[in-house]
Amino acid sequence: MDRRKFIQAGSLLVAVGMIEPVKGAILPAYMFEERIEGPLIISTWIHGLEANRAGWKVLQQGGSALDATVAGAMQTESDITNRSVGIGGRPDRTGHVTLDACCMDGDGRSGSVGFLEGIAHPAAVAKAVMEKTPHAMLVGAGAKQFALDHGFETIKTPIPEVKKDYLAWKKENKDLFKRPKINHENHDTIGLIARDANGSFGGTCTTSGWAYKMPGRLGDSPIIGAGLFVDNEVGAATATGLGEAIIRVAGSAIVVELMRNGMKPSEACREVVMRIIRKNKDLTGLQCGFIAIDNKGNVGGFSVYNGFNFAMKTNTRDEMVDTEYDRKW
Ligand code: GLY
Repeated sequence: MDRRKFIQAGSLLVAVGMIEPVKGAILPAYMFEERIEGPLIISTWIHGLEANRAGWKVLQQGGSALDATVAGAMQTESDITNRSVGIGGRPDRTGHVTLDACCMDGDGRSGSVGFLEGIAHPAAVAKAVMEKTPHAMLVGAGAKQFALDHGFETIKTPIPEVKKDYLAWKKENKDLFKRPKINHENHDTIGLIARDANGSFGGTCTTSGWAYKMPGRLGDSPIIGAGLFVDNEVGAATATGLGEAIIRVAGSAIVVELMRNGMKPSEACREVVMRIIRKNKDLTGLQCGFIAIDNKGNVGGFSVYNGFNFAMKTNTRDEMVDTEYDRKW
């Protein structure tokens, strides 16, 4: 039975009362689920296709999952057409583009940077924080000084097109706290997770955050356990969407813990999405999506609203996968 027919069959069983539709509980896995052998890399949204290809080169040469995901993240950070990551990212409401990123390997090592301005590759700086400092996170002026001291490339932001949009926004905008609509046309963040030829996991997450955010705001992407969590004993998970909601449920860490306790990736992602739905009365514009891989090679994801997808690259595949979701926009 193909996946769609399986979903329809599941819905039919609910309709005839053979499966209890328990709100917020774990449903049988009639969501996307696939078991992959060998190395693989998955990333949030359509920009993940190019990012995965950059990461795949690292995996093909026997590189680590961590290095593959950092390479993938750097590819997206260099894309001047991307409005939610790196050089092409949108600024905060004072016109400053501040970037956030983190990375983690399967042995529990991690690094992170937040509120970093004028540096091309926050993902690579996060890895340097992990490798060259005793700290897990550097932010603001300290993060920038660390990046400059270590010779990381500088950039001038916002780029002219983004500045033009910002000035127009500033003129017209009335509702400073309106949530951005996050979907495949207007995606946010890239989160990448991978498994290498040794069976080790790694992940990286990078973003310019909520467009026109308050200065100083950090989302989930630089926060280990929120935007990303990796553990070789279990697998890896990463998140995209409204960072405030993801932080408040420790999203990616909980996905990994649910997998540790036996859930498949899609089930674990769905359970965390349902927690977000239960905890937030106002779901207007509250899109969040999670993707995960477990140590058996099962891959999955789930989102609050339709429109979320992820890119997957393996020995035989290079494609987008739509996740299941709880509700329609
Ligand atoms: N998920 C990215 C952010 O909220 O900043």
